[in-house]
Amino acid sequence: MSHSPEIQELLITSEKTVKEALKIIDTNAQGTCFVVDASGKLIGVVTDGDIRRALIEGKSLDSRVKDVMQTKFTALPVTTPIDQIQSKISERIRHIPLVDENNIPVDYASFTRAHRIPVMTPLLSGNELKYVTECITTGWISSQGAYVKKFEQLFAEYSDMKFGVAVSNGTVAIHLALVALGIGEGDEVIVPDLTFAASINGVIYTGATPVMADIDPETWTLSPAAVEKLITSKTKAIMPVHIYGHPCHMDELMAIAKKHNLLVIEDCAEALGALYKGQHVGTFGDAATFSFFGNKTITTGEGGMVLFKDETVCNKAMVLRDHGMSKSKRYWHDFVGYNYRMTNIQAAIGCAQLERLDEFVNAKRGMAAVFNSGLSQHKAITLPPEKDWAFNGYWLYTCIIDPNGGVSRDELIEKLMKNGVETRPVFYPLHEMPPYVQYIKQGQTFPVTNHVSRNGISLPSSVTISAEEQNSILNSVSAIYNTRKLNVNV
Ligand SMILES: Cc1ncc(COP(=O)(O)O)c(C=O)c1O
Repeated sequence: MSHSPEIQELLITSEKTVKEALKIIDTNAQGTCFVVDASGKLIGVVTDGDIRRALIEGKSLDSRVKDVMQTKFTALPVTTPIDQIQSKISERIRHIPLVDENNIPVDYASFTRAHRIPVMTPLLSGNELKYVTECITTGWISSQGAYVKKFEQLFAEYSDMKFGVAVSNGTVAIHLALVALGIGEGDEVIVPDLTFAASINGVIYTGATPVMADIDPETWTLSPAAVEKLITSKTKAIMPVHIYGHPCHMDELMAIAKKHNLLVIEDCAEALGALYKGQHVGTFGDAATFSFFGNKTITTGEGGMVLFKDETVCNKAMVLRDHGMSKSKRYWHDFVGYNYRMTNIQAAIGCAQLERLDEFVNAKRGMAAVFNSGLSQHKAITLPPEKDWAFNGYWLYTCIIDPNGGVSRDELIEKLMKNGVETRPVFYPLHEMPPYVQYIKQGQTFPVTNHVSRNGISLPSSVTISAEEQNSILNSVSAIYNTRKLNVNV
């Protein structure tokens, strides 16, 4: 009989002290340990709750585990079929030891062990297969075909914009938007320090110089005050990034752009469906870019879109997307262009996803409401922002962990993983990474980005997340904090 190595992290002998049991529970992050006798046979279970009750009843940390453990508990033979094991797991019985024929624990089952909760999974159960099948049966699988135009039109309509250009991903969307708007060498473009690297990379590809600005503590997006201070005679554009689904301070940023005659390119990769004062993000600036990577609110596998205010700029972008080839003279090139085209298959998936976009955004907001209510009991956790003027799309449910609150962000990531919960740290500040250090302006500091980056964590945020999974995540977070509190009191 082979032993699962993880079981060792949950075992304690009955003669050990309560204090030692607490240490084991804190390390394994499961909120429980299994008690064995000197010969290794299973004789009890002890949870953080049992210990708390025992301490209240007058037992001490030096008491023996055998005096506080439960002797009536559920254990199953390791040969039990998996569905039967899972059916026994509930809110009350969160862990089941699995024993061999000699009653020696060799493995254990828990809700999340057999079932890792991913940060994000796409939902493709609508018309995706039907539309893709149509592409394949008709042979329209490349970038010609009706779905590309249809996707551009429907997407622009959804966002209350007129002109859409579908492209192969969200990174080239940024590059294409900037080039079509005439940004290049000698220009400066202000980007937030807290964003995915694609935002700044797009600027660098054009030959322009990126300028990193700190973020606002209340929304984690580009700080208008920081932007204002960074404007020089070379500044040509600003790039608000609606990070994690929360809209930027668009009134203030647009006022700055107007005052200094700057272009505005909104990076909406993470914020499809989000509203600023009731208006879709992506409709404020001269251009807006979107990503349809597999983890985005809607996906086309890989894919992106640029929305433009101006038809002439949109037409230029369409030419640049297709090698810079003239629309009126085949194989004549007026510009050095790119192949940034989206395929008909991607666009077909996009059309099917768009049909369910409102449903997806509602699901994400429902998920956020459940997390908000469950996590608000933890003083060490700052919930994601949603200003009263904002409608957060909650692309990724992201909160901040107080480093002095008993459990650090990195520790929480590690312990949640042990509970089968995948999480994600917030992006590193751009200014700390090798390619971007050179763009720091003299004397510039980024205190807000540093804080959010070091302490931010994103929880599983798929539209498919179930109430049971959310409950399990919230229970795991509570168990981690509660065990640590008992330990801090030791
Ligand atoms: C803010 C932001 N901008 C741009 C991108 C780039 O999109 P893609 O991965 O489709 O190239 C992403 C996501 O991946 C993003 O999060």
